[in-house]
Amino acid sequence: MFAQIKLTECYFYYFAHMQNLLVKMKRFIIAYLLTSGMVATLIAQSVKDMPALIPRPVNMQLKEGIFKLTPNVKITYNDEAALQISTLLMERLQKATGWQLKAQKSVGGSGIILQINRIPDDKIGNEGYYLKVSPSAVQISANQPAGLFYGIQTLLQLLPTAIESNTPTYANWYIPAVEITDYPRFTWRGIMLDVSRHFFTKEEVKRYIDQIARLKFNTLHWHLTDDNGWRIEIKSLPKLTEIGAWRVERHGYFNMRKDPQPGEPATYGGYYTHEDIREIVAYAQARYVTIVPEIDVPGHSMAALAAYPELSCTQQKVYVNPGTAFSEWYGNGTFKMLVDNTLNPADEKVYEFLDKVFTEVAMLFPGEYIHAGGDECYKGYWANDARCQALMKQLKTRHVEDLQGYFMSRVEKIIRSKGKKMIGWDEILEGGVSTEVAIMSWRGMKGGIEAAREGHRVVMSPTTYAYLDYQQGEASIEPPVYAALRAKKVYSFEPVPPDTDPQYIMGVQGNVWTEQIPHFRQLEYMTYPRAWALAEVAWSPREGKNWHHFATRMEKHFARASVAGINYAKSVYDAIVQTEQKNNKLTVLMATEIPDLHIYYTIDGSMPDNHSPRYGKPFELPEGPITLRVITYRGNQPIGRLITLPLSELEKRAGKDDRSLLD
Ligand code: ACM
Repeated sequence: MFAQIKLTECYFYYFAHMQNLLVKMKRFIIAYLLTSGMVATLIAQSVKDMPALIPRPVNMQLKEGIFKLTPNVKITYNDEAALQISTLLMERLQKATGWQLKAQKSVGGSGIILQINRIPDDKIGNEGYYLKVSPSAVQISANQPAGLFYGIQTLLQLLPTAIESNTPTYANWYIPAVEITDYPRFTWRGIMLDVSRHFFTKEEVKRYIDQIARLKFNTLHWHLTDDNGWRIEIKSLPKLTEIGAWRVERHGYFNMRKDPQPGEPATYGGYYTHEDIREIVAYAQARYVTIVPEIDVPGHSMAALAAYPELSCTQQKVYVNPGTAFSEWYGNGTFKMLVDNTLNPADEKVYEFLDKVFTEVAMLFPGEYIHAGGDECYKGYWANDARCQALMKQLKTRHVEDLQGYFMSRVEKIIRSKGKKMIGWDEILEGGVSTEVAIMSWRGMKGGIEAAREGHRVVMSPTTYAYLDYQQGEASIEPPVYAALRAKKVYSFEPVPPDTDPQYIMGVQGNVWTEQIPHFRQLEYMTYPRAWALAEVAWSPREGKNWHHFATRMEKHFARASVAGINYAKSVYDAIVQTEQKNNKLTVLMATEIPDLHIYYTIDGSMPDNHSPRYGKPFELPEGPITLRVITYRGNQPIGRLITLPLSELEKRAGKDDRSLLD
């Protein structure tokens, strides 16, 4: 019943209230124009700036009137805990308006009121808030400061697009009157950032945290170590960063790069000092983001082994990998490492090493969890190692795979001894770690389903819905990556599988691996808009989810991101082109992620425009060395990029794509 009411309210918001607001704003504007003569501008602005909140709040009612932000508006707060939040708000407002609003501790009043509830309100929990905007005041109330922080993010999205400006700008600083009740669906709303494959500076990490916090993400999973760079200073093991943080400089497609040459200096890389980490952690805390550090063991350890080769079975001298191919993948999930990148589970020195590492990691990160990796560990070198064989005998097992379970249980004990809980990739389930350990399900949902059945807490981050490093559109025009995941598919993600007890699903996480992401602009491009879709999956109620409504809001956020200077992909405007072989004929099937676009195409070698054939339904290609060219339009304007696909490519992709995208 309750869900039903919320569903109704959501639809009401998007169908009726948008209309309603338009009518009311128009009425207001007409009255205003009689005195000001600014009609056309204001009507345009009212339509353009109608609220487009991401993530969608639980409930929002549009009311009569607007609140006008002026330099004289005061911010008041009733609790010292809200001081930092009011400062963040003042800073954001000052950047775009140029106004230095005043903030003071007091009760009630007009202006912008930030209020910690004296009597907690169960409905909104620790992160929820109420936001009420009337012509005389903006009031945000919450049980905890986190809720006020999220209320402010919503408030900023209610302001005109110009609020995203990093320099003072002119705008009609109006906020529509609304009443919002809002709280998250999941407690873990994460983004994983890989800083090993490519290094991101302290300032870039902070900028990224600021961006994701605006979307109400509350967790940054920080992938700090891998084969390609060790990025966290460990004072008791200085070689980890003296050697492990640096590799030879290479460009081009990761995994196809050249080995280091004899004597070549390792000049690419970097790491975060303790001081850097404390600064980043404090910055994240101020934005209610918990950082979960990952030390990825026992596989993915080549950078550590470059520094301390004695910790592997082979004790082979290895280098920090600059993006060469050193593994073979056999398509069924099995693989072979051509270089030993694993720690030796049978060597006590390895656990002494890890104890030192986790001592410092636990000291630097105040959060509850430390991520210990556990993914993609190749056991071939263990199988041939005398000490591992002796350990297997001791453990009474004939399966080398069981050594990973032994290893992860030892790591769990170390992490627990530092007062932290362990989380790891779903492979660690295979070793039977305790149910205290949380599982991050990445190889689809099945690891998470099984983990929840066994009583583990679970974060769902499956490749199928949450890998933000994958290509997000047409393969022939996106930067190359070996797999694809469109925004529409991300949005369709339902993290609680049927028959799984939702109490075990802590939440959702998008993973941004950076093999093919060489710098911050590309990091933004890969993150947005898919992280917007994921933010909504993580925060908003399941009821009322609607891709078309989201797409409308997403486009408004494109405009906001442009003003903010944030790079984002416009791939959703490109056509989806799929093919299938039927009765020896190649059939072309096309669609768009955004509903109101038209697709035009040619097969005669000419450039397509809106006078070319318009795609209506699947068609068979005639015989011949055809090249298909496709472009999308909105009305009379081209909007998507030109897609050019020769016959060979059309044949290659036949039947391979995700048909659900055509729905
Ligand atoms: C992973 O993608 N290897 C967790």
